[in-house]
Amino acid sequence: HVAGPSGLVIFGVTGDLSRKKLMPAVYDLANRGLLPPGFSLVGFARRDWESQDFAQIVYEAVKQHSRTPFREDVWKQLAEGFRFIPGDFDDEVAFKRLREAVDDLDAERGTNGNFAFYLSVPPKFFPKVVQQLQKHGLADPPPGSWRRAVIEKPFGHDLASAEELNRIIHQVFPPHEVFRIDHYLGKETVQNILALRFANSMYEPIWNHRYVDHVQITMAEDIGIGGRAGYYDGIGSARDVIQNHLLQLLALTAMEEPADFTAESLVAEKLKVLRAVRLPADLGSHTVRGQYAGGWQGGEKVVGYLDEAGIDPRSRTDTYAAVKLEIDNKRWSGVPFYLRTGKRLGRRVTEIAVVFQRAPHSPFGSGEPGQNAVVIRVQPDEGVTQRFGSKVPGTSMEIRDVTMDFAYGESFTESSPEAYERLILDVLLGDANLFPRHQEVEESWRILDPIEKYWDTHGTPAAYPAGTWGPAAADRMLARDGRSWRRP
Ligand code: BG6
Repeated sequence: HVAGPSGLVIFGVTGDLSRKKLMPAVYDLANRGLLPPGFSLVGFARRDWESQDFAQIVYEAVKQHSRTPFREDVWKQLAEGFRFIPGDFDDEVAFKRLREAVDDLDAERGTNGNFAFYLSVPPKFFPKVVQQLQKHGLADPPPGSWRRAVIEKPFGHDLASAEELNRIIHQVFPPHEVFRIDHYLGKETVQNILALRFANSMYEPIWNHRYVDHVQITMAEDIGIGGRAGYYDGIGSARDVIQNHLLQLLALTAMEEPADFTAESLVAEKLKVLRAVRLPADLGSHTVRGQYAGGWQGGEKVVGYLDEAGIDPRSRTDTYAAVKLEIDNKRWSGVPFYLRTGKRLGRRVTEIAVVFQRAPHSPFGSGEPGQNAVVIRVQPDEGVTQRFGSKVPGTSMEIRDVTMDFAYGESFTESSPEAYERLILDVLLGDANLFPRHQEVEESWRILDPIEKYWDTHGTPAAYPAGTWGPAAADRMLARDGRSWRRP
């Protein structure tokens, strides 16, 4: 699938995301031959730059972060389509120039009026930017062309703010032209969840409350908040990743088979399952939040959250969150879904573990049978693991848990594209399968809002030393249910 004639305008082009992910992704797409010859990239930011300065910044980002080898000819062709517009979001003249640049590119490079506007800016600027796009005629496609808005999270900080944001954006762009980025959906291993479930016959028959004991979804990071104090403080881990990435993983793991593989059908099924998510009545014993204290990580001494640059030393922001959710439908009745995430944990790993009930009876005498599991290893060690009991070689019938692994690196010669590559390409193709719709975003806030509200009025996050697996309360939360967290 090669994108048709088109261009991409990035607001917030000087930001971290743009340098580390967006610019390298654009180059990698070009290198893989997936962009049209006249593809154009327009940067918009408050910098006193000429287009050559912008090209130099993209060059450095590409050299540092792109996945594919650097090829001079690909770079040259791509760089001819770079333009830079200096200005801030109130600047009428800058938006007039943007309009002219877009029209010129249509004429010079054949972008055909097809432009995507990528808002890689804090959400408080979304309304202003979309209003400017509307005012300067940039949101209205010429006949036969398209104009799309791409928005980065956070989509609000609660249900009310998300609804307001969606209302403002939909006044300017029709819903089918709004692409909300949840970069987890762009990951190969996440797309593989539906393949594993629905392209095979051996998992679906047991993928339900009759056989599944519980599901654990873990997104652990070893990094701290780095230079993101301004974004993170007051937001915290649950809003940062449970509201979006983890609830999307839950939806893909738990949803019914879609009628077909179109965005409409996928959204319909994800929404159905998100709507069925129920919070436990007692949030005190079924949610846990933590905040990292100083400690050791990878042999290095690291500071605690409250000592990070730019953090209010009295901050109550969570850097760890664990919640227990239930899904009120026939398939999942009584099966808890435990979600956890944290910064400065033991190691970086994201996985979904579907843990099965113990065999009801063991004919081999002593010892309790273990729990089988299918573990979808999202990252960094991409693959799927099955865990089951096996006879230990020897003269007795001793059973021990063993694992059987599928690893991407061993089974495929193809390498996984970066999530942003796939998502930017899909925006240009107009393929919305991997983008959450506004109803999903709102439904996810419906789930999270009561938890955040509860936390606001009940105590403070428990401190956990950096490099550990989070607060002890999270272990107690599962122990109360007679279960324990996996140590990935
Ligand atoms: C982002 C969060 O959405 O995902 C970050 O805002 C987090 O806090 C990041 O670090 C993790 O992404 P990945 O792809 O490295 O797991």
